[in-house]
Amino acid sequence: DIDDHLEPRPPVVTVMGHVDHGKTSLLDALRKADVAGGEHGGITQHIGAYQVRLENGQKVTFLDTPGHAAFSQMRARGANITDIVILVVAGDDGVMPQTVEAIKHARAAEVPIIVAVNKMDKPGSDSTRVTNELLQHEIVVESLGGDTQIVEVSAKTGQGLDELIERILLQAEVLDLKANPDRTADGVVIEAKLDKGRGAVSTVLVNRGTLKRGDIVVAGSQFGRVRALLNERNEQLTEAGPATPVEILGLDGVPSPGDSFAVVENEARARELTEYRIRLKREKSMHPVGA
Ligand code: GTP
Ligand code: NA
Ligand code: MG
Repeated sequence: DIDDHLEPRPPVVTVMGHVDHGKTSLLDALRKADVAGGEHGGITQHIGAYQVRLENGQKVTFLDTPGHAAFSQMRARGANITDIVILVVAGDDGVMPQTVEAIKHARAAEVPIIVAVNKMDKPGSDSTRVTNELLQHEIVVESLGGDTQIVEVSAKTGQGLDELIERILLQAEVLDLKANPDRTADGVVIEAKLDKGRGAVSTVLVNRGTLKRGDIVVAGSQFGRVRALLNERNEQLTEAGPATPVEILGLDGVPSPGDSFAVVENEARARELTEYRIRLKREKSMHPVGA
C-alpha cells in the first residue's frame, strides 16, 4: 500500500484568538522575527504559514490567523487543517467574542486546544479570571480536573515560551503524527493571489508526500507545473515534505483558499481533472443542494 511507509511529521499548529490578543506577536517571539511590526495597521488579514526548527532539530509548522470579526472563514479553515490549536487570550482582556468563536471551530474540527494566556507582563493580567471565563464555555483546564492545558506567556518578555513549546511537543507526541513522504504529494491551498510579476502565487500546506519543483499540480480548478517553491523567507526550495507550508509558482490561475491540491502524472491528466472539477462546480451551482 502507498501509505505503508509512514514517518513522523511535524505538527501543524494554528494560532487563534480575539483581535489584538497577541497571536502574531507570540509567533514572532517563537521564531524571533518581526512580522506584526510590518503589518498594515497591525491587523492580520491573511493566514501566515511558517515552519520553525527547534534547537533539538524538531520542526513545528505554525499557521497565524486574523482575530478580526470579519475573518471567521479563515479561522474555520485554520481549524480544519491543523493538529493543535493555540488559543491566545490576552490576560488583561479575557475571553472575547472571537475567542469563543475560535473554541467552536476547534471543537467542530475535533482539535486539541492549548490555551496561552498572553500579556502576562501587564499589571492587569489575570489568568485565574481567564480560567473561569473559559469554564463558562466548557473549556476545563487541568488544575480543575479537565484536559485543557493552559500556559501563562508574554510575547513581550518571552515568559512561558519554552513551556508553550514543550506543551506543543508533548501534545504532538500524544497525537503520534505520521505521513508517507515518498508518495506523490497532496494537500490544501491556504491562500492564493495574483502577483503582477510572478503570476499566481499559492501558499499550500503539504499533507502527504513530497512536493517537488517540476511537479504537475491540480489545485481546485487550476493546474500547472511547479516552477518554484519558496518558504516564508522567500528562499527557494527544491521540495517540501509532509506538514510543510510552501509558496508555489506556476499555476495557470489562482485557486481558492481551502481547495485541495494533488500532484498528477501529466498535463493531460491535469486537464481532465480540472475540467471535471469545473463541470462539477457548474452543476452544483445550477442545482444547489436544498433548493
Ligand atoms: P490580529 O491579527 O489583528 O487579530 O492581532 P494579533 O492577535 O495578532 O495581535 P498582535 O500580535 O498584532 O498584537 C496586538 C498588540 O498587542 C500589539 O500592540 C502588540 O505589541 C501587543 N502585545 C502582544 N503581545 C503582548 C504581550 O505579551 N505584552 C504586551 N504588553 N503587549 C503585547
Ligand atoms: Na493586531
Ligand atoms: Mg495578527
